[in-house]
Amino acid sequence: MKITIFGTGYVGLVTGACLADVGHDILCMDVDANKIANLENGIIPIYEPGLESIVESNVKSGRLKFTTDVERAVDHGELQFIAVGTPPDEDGSADLQYVLAVAKSIGQHMNSYKVVIDKSTVPVGTADKVNAMIAEQLASRGEQIDFDVVSNPEFLKEGAAVNDFMKPDRIVVGAEGDSAKEMIREAYAPFNRNHDRMVFMDIRSAELTKYAANAMLATKISFMNEMANLAERLGADIEQVRKGIGSDPRIGYHFIYPGCGYGGSCFPKDVQALARTAGQVGYESVLLNAVEAVNYAQKSVLFDKIKHYFNGDLAGKTIALWGLSFKPNTDDMREASSRVLMESLWAEGAKVQAFDPEAMEETQRIYGDQDGLVLCGTKEQAIKGADALAIVTEWKEFRSPDFELIKDSLAEPVIFDGRNLYEPVLVERKGFTYYAIGRGKNQFQS
Ligand code: UDX
Repeated sequence: MKITIFGTGYVGLVTGACLADVGHDILCMDVDANKIANLENGIIPIYEPGLESIVESNVKSGRLKFTTDVERAVDHGELQFIAVGTPPDEDGSADLQYVLAVAKSIGQHMNSYKVVIDKSTVPVGTADKVNAMIAEQLASRGEQIDFDVVSNPEFLKEGAAVNDFMKPDRIVVGAEGDSAKEMIREAYAPFNRNHDRMVFMDIRSAELTKYAANAMLATKISFMNEMANLAERLGADIEQVRKGIGSDPRIGYHFIYPGCGYGGSCFPKDVQALARTAGQVGYESVLLNAVEAVNYAQKSVLFDKIKHYFNGDLAGKTIALWGLSFKPNTDDMREASSRVLMESLWAEGAKVQAFDPEAMEETQRIYGDQDGLVLCGTKEQAIKGADALAIVTEWKEFRSPDFELIKDSLAEPVIFDGRNLYEPVLVERKGFTYYAIGRGKNQFQS
């Protein structure tokens, strides 16, 4: 099928590349000429395992093309995916200006029936706005061309996005017209073999499904973080509690890992946006606000432990930091816990020696010549001469480090682990003071 994707960000690029890979004829449009020029040369702006190679091979085969020409983009696809950004407004609600700008372009330039698909995470009711915008443009042109607007939220995890797209758990589609439904089914047919993964529903329910899924996952994490904070004060071990509750299939093992808070482009933004939406319809969501508040506080938990350990005086201390991205296998630092920790440390006059397997360039881009930041080429360099080691991202290469080397490198053998990577007893036996989340040593028990 001929398909257009608006937006070559994370979602747009993965969607375009994966649809091309199964044989569709894809044209990706972006207003950023530089980005498009790079993509045409196989340079992709993000780190995502497997993405570069499928972009490259599909560009080569001619199934994946890029353009900045909006007229050509609208003309190309019978399906028009909107996958542009919806950054949070100042008040936390999603900013729809880019989505509506695409809708406007579609209305201005379409000359035949189109199915317009909202792929961006957008508040409930956005499809109606997209619909109205296209209709308005057509009316001002004096044209009567049929179109359908469909909601088709994505459930891609960064670091596993290609795999998630190729092997989806479910494909949620909010659609009304039969022809739109059939065309979407056809587009996704290659990903829908063996058993039917299509879940058709009305448009508003599809829009809410995306938020409900992310809010549920974020709730699980904040719940566990609250339990971890409680475990510290009660002298319990949250990792044992986690296994104890996860074994109940009604609870399950997924997304109950305590840590130093969730980050990324989805959970923080979507929880806030849904809370906003609730407020707008006169419903104060106590739960969503609490999920957000717990996460906000959780991002400072490691810092509090470090400050307590150094008796409130961090001036002149050097903290080694392992992990900068918001989670492993990505270079994304949006809403990353590392940022809160580093900024708190700098504010108290401490220095940070940081290492991440992928996010060094991104850190450089964000913090540039920040005073008190030393970017290190390896995790070993980061610990050299530091007063303590803090870990905020559970990259594989941090899981079984050379503890003797860590001890020799640090001025004091102390580890602050924001992802519970090690067994407290074993690390302590090696001579470390070990602070973790909801286990190990803490400032609440003597
Ligand atoms: C998430 C959703 O999983 C995905 O379905 C949606 O489309 C986009 O948002 P992503 O943001 O890529 O994906 O990351 P995810 O793997 O879900 O992790 C989000 C954050 O939660 C990370 O900071 C991670 O460290 C944290 N997390 C996750 C926990 O703290 N504990 C857990 O048990 C799981």
